[in-house]
Amino acid sequence: MDRILIEGRRCLNGEITVSGSKNAALPLMVACLLADGVSTLRNVPQLRDVQTMSSVLQSVGAKVVTEGDRITIDARGFNTTEAPYDMVRRMRASVYVLGPMLARLGQARVSLPGGCAIGPRPIDLHLCGFEAMGAKVRIEGGYVIAEGEGMRGGEMNLEGTHGSSVGATCNVLMAAVLVPGRTVIRGAAREPEVGELVRMLNLMGARITGADSSTLEIEGVSSLQPIVYSTISDRIEAGTFLLAGAITGGDVMVHGARPDHMNALLEKMIQAGIGIEVLPDGVRVKPGNGINPTNIQTLPFPGFPTDMQAQFMALLCMAGGDSIVRETIYPERFIHVAELMRMGANIEMGVGEARVRGVKKLTGAPVMASDLRASAALVLAGLAAEGTTEILRVYHIDRGYEHIDAKLAAIGAKITRETGEQQPVAAATETTSS
Ligand code: UD1
Repeated sequence: MDRILIEGRRCLNGEITVSGSKNAALPLMVACLLADGVSTLRNVPQLRDVQTMSSVLQSVGAKVVTEGDRITIDARGFNTTEAPYDMVRRMRASVYVLGPMLARLGQARVSLPGGCAIGPRPIDLHLCGFEAMGAKVRIEGGYVIAEGEGMRGGEMNLEGTHGSSVGATCNVLMAAVLVPGRTVIRGAAREPEVGELVRMLNLMGARITGADSSTLEIEGVSSLQPIVYSTISDRIEAGTFLLAGAITGGDVMVHGARPDHMNALLEKMIQAGIGIEVLPDGVRVKPGNGINPTNIQTLPFPGFPTDMQAQFMALLCMAGGDSIVRETIYPERFIHVAELMRMGANIEMGVGEARVRGVKKLTGAPVMASDLRASAALVLAGLAAEGTTEILRVYHIDRGYEHIDAKLAAIGAKITRETGEQQPVAAATETTSS
């Protein structure tokens, strides 16, 4: 298995460019199934999750060709109504195929994704949405079996106990665009990645109003056209690089960072005393005067993103006082805490929240990556820590960060990757997320 070695305490300086957004690219890839032709997506990051989604699309009959950051998807052979457990357990976003299967093929048999490192992640809201449009849904043998005959527009609310669901909004949208009549989605997720899906679908001929708001209205059409579309940049990768600059007291220009997608993070960084400069082509982080303790609470967009919680906690470990980190989207998403503590962090866990008592220094240690963003937090802690940090199970990081070691090395990090043996099959296929 690969491992990443970091010699910490090096100030990062320079310029870094953000890749395309993983969480935007995944639903856009699936949306290509909605048009009977050849679509091309650009600025798609070269990541394990993207490869997994390519396999999912191929397994349902599409042809997928990847050339650098461009993916061509020929959906003319889309004819399979099944997504098996072996596929879905590798990546829960595979369940996005439900929407296009119902809309274009009239039925679907898709495995339920199962457990996940960051806590329970049901898909009940996805299913309620399809039922509101008249689909008949049942669960049998670990699979969702949905019959779409006679589906028509319907009204629904996709806001659950932990806020609106990104996945349910995307999935339901991908059926509603081709279902006759008017669908109204209330409590729609407002994450930028959902807005991107709306914009791309509209360019393909869909009739959706309300982009970026919590109410989407869809007038079904009979067919969509193939498209050439470029994804937005990855706001979570951008935020992680800004925090890499901040935690090392460096000066880093992050090209492609979209401040309009990162307001909540930038506000908290400023509150923490970090120098932030918004420029036409991105965001620059500059040395501040230490790190102030800062409380954060994760919320659906435009609130503070759960996908930045672990990385921000790494920063707070070095603050000059106590901070509270409250997680409202995935109350159990604190798997990084134990590993950060092995590096010298002082964190006290409560229910759905952690009190982070700032320490003067972190020290390098062997640590285990456990999910995508938790792993990014360990990279950040390693950059700031005294001595060597060895991160194992880096395949988690590779699911969502394109060449993170090379990008950070280019701005002064002493970070290397050692390539080991093939990872065990069980590890390669465990369902993790985000
Ligand atoms: C997406 C992102 C993930 C991010 C998450 C929250 C992708 C591929 N992944 O995941 O990186 O962490 O949004 O911003 O885009 N829920 C239900 N029932 C459902 C669906 C969700 O109760 O049917 C709950 C979830 O357990 C969670 C909350 O709603 O507590 C938000 O989940 P959701 O927005 O659906 O997350 P994903 O789309 O899976």
